[in-house]
Amino acid sequence: MQKTLIETLQAFVNAAFSRAGYDTKFAAVRVSDRPDLADFQCNGLMGVAKSQKMNPMDAGAAVMEALDLEGLFEADFVKPGFLNFKATDEALRKLVAASVDDPRALAGTDERKKFMVDYGGPNLAKEMHVGHLRSAIVGHGLINLLEFAGHDVVSDVHLGDWGLQLGQLITQIEDVRPDLFEDEVNAPITMLDLQEWYPAASAKSKADEAFRDKARVATSALQAGDARYMRLWQRIVDVSIASLRRDYNRLGCEFTYFYGESRYQDMLGPLVKSLEDSGTAEPSEGAIVVHLQEDKKLPPLMLRNSNGGYGYGATDLATIVDRLDTDKPDYILYVVDARQKMHFQQVFLGMEKTGLLGDTTLEHTAFGTVNGTDGKPFKTREGGVMRLHDLMEEMHAAARARLEEMGKLDGAELEKTAEQIAIAAIKFGELSHDRESNYIFDMEQFLQFEGKTGPYIQYTCVRIASLMENASAAGLTPATFTEVTDGARSLVLTLDEFPAKLARAVDTRKPSNMAMHVYNLANATNSFYQSNRVLADGVDASVAASHLGLLAAAKGQLELGLKLLGIEVPAKM
Ligand code: ARG
Repeated sequence: MQKTLIETLQAFVNAAFSRAGYDTKFAAVRVSDRPDLADFQCNGLMGVAKSQKMNPMDAGAAVMEALDLEGLFEADFVKPGFLNFKATDEALRKLVAASVDDPRALAGTDERKKFMVDYGGPNLAKEMHVGHLRSAIVGHGLINLLEFAGHDVVSDVHLGDWGLQLGQLITQIEDVRPDLFEDEVNAPITMLDLQEWYPAASAKSKADEAFRDKARVATSALQAGDARYMRLWQRIVDVSIASLRRDYNRLGCEFTYFYGESRYQDMLGPLVKSLEDSGTAEPSEGAIVVHLQEDKKLPPLMLRNSNGGYGYGATDLATIVDRLDTDKPDYILYVVDARQKMHFQQVFLGMEKTGLLGDTTLEHTAFGTVNGTDGKPFKTREGGVMRLHDLMEEMHAAARARLEEMGKLDGAELEKTAEQIAIAAIKFGELSHDRESNYIFDMEQFLQFEGKTGPYIQYTCVRIASLMENASAAGLTPATFTEVTDGARSLVLTLDEFPAKLARAVDTRKPSNMAMHVYNLANATNSFYQSNRVLADGVDASVAASHLGLLAAAKGQLELGLKLLGIEVPAKM
């Protein structure tokens, strides 16, 4: 594997610090914040001077003396104690040569671990809405990044297919469509039906006590395996899963397992019983709970409520036990709304108390809220919850209109490109934000071909591809990168940052680090391209070929970065 410039430099600087007799903890090198003066810098000499009670200038002189940079960097030592480094043209050429051969050449692999990514998490009998988008996009991006970094990943959607909402739905169906309970009836149930019944059911449950009681009884009957209810439930599950899979496919999301909460129902009784036997769980006011903290800052984890029903917490415990049993992951990541923070604190602590967890680490990979341009939680124009499906359709229509205006494409090609742009706009809109912060879903802004958007980066790739085609028609092909101009230098230094940004995205579980890198790279590529013309009059053919060589490396890394974010590059746009 090819080392990056910064890694190579770090090794040189470490060696010099050691030779001079200084602790290498002071030797850290980073990208310079004054690119006009240097490419990299090391600020550790002040630390050395302090710990050795000496003048930083003397420490600097000793390090300078001990440095062997093998002709790849030039060093400069400035007051009051900074080391500045500039990569030589030779070093830049070598780096580009390696990344042209293989855009992956720079990417390191971590120690291989096994991850279970729990993401998506939609609830059955409701359509996915924009809130579920975050989990889908962040989760899918993380899976790509983890796999690329060399880890094994399995994933599960953890479908909300059980519990009270289903009891409410069934009660509503008993009221409005009792015919659906008859054995021989095979009248189809559609998502449209469910969309109508579910909100009605939850509204009635709020307003009408008799309905609420009936729904509770129906839920218990379902959980006890009532055959009539189970048949209807299965039909609801089937239509819902088909619809969910369609939306997820469109987003490119894949799941190893498409399990639902219902899968764990038979495990709950025995699990809770064994936890009671071992003293981990205790009765409390008719319920069974796990006490978590002496000071009661965190409420106990409820396993069974006083009606004998098992809830979300017990299901999550059983799910963990099942995952430990089958996949034995080193990490389980829950890509779930930050508003469930307390739930996961309770489940994680409860799981630790069972003593069954072993070496597996549980993490809540939390995300904030998606707001509309009015700053309030995202809604349709009519004020309802925007369904994910409608959102994608709207984005697609807007992208299509844009392409029609541009007039370069038509027919099937236009449709396909509109879809690629729409999905890129949605995904990059998400991924350009830190998952922990809230963001504004601004359809119009996300679709711009300029600025921090998916279409802008796609467009950058398309432009380079078309430049290469034109160059090739003019008899020019990419050659070894030799011409280290100013724009070239900053583009190569940006390419060099890929592995560090990948590592950061993986370590922090934040694909936004990769998204920002891809955006910076698109900017560096565009500025290079503007100040280093390939096809203009008077450009020497060998210079043009070198520029094309660097552009090929940039294009390779841009496409790789986009692929890791789940974004496709159109052939034309
Ligand atoms: N269905 C849940 C919701 O919409 C999310 C499930 C997350 N995963 C989990 N294992 N609890 O809130």
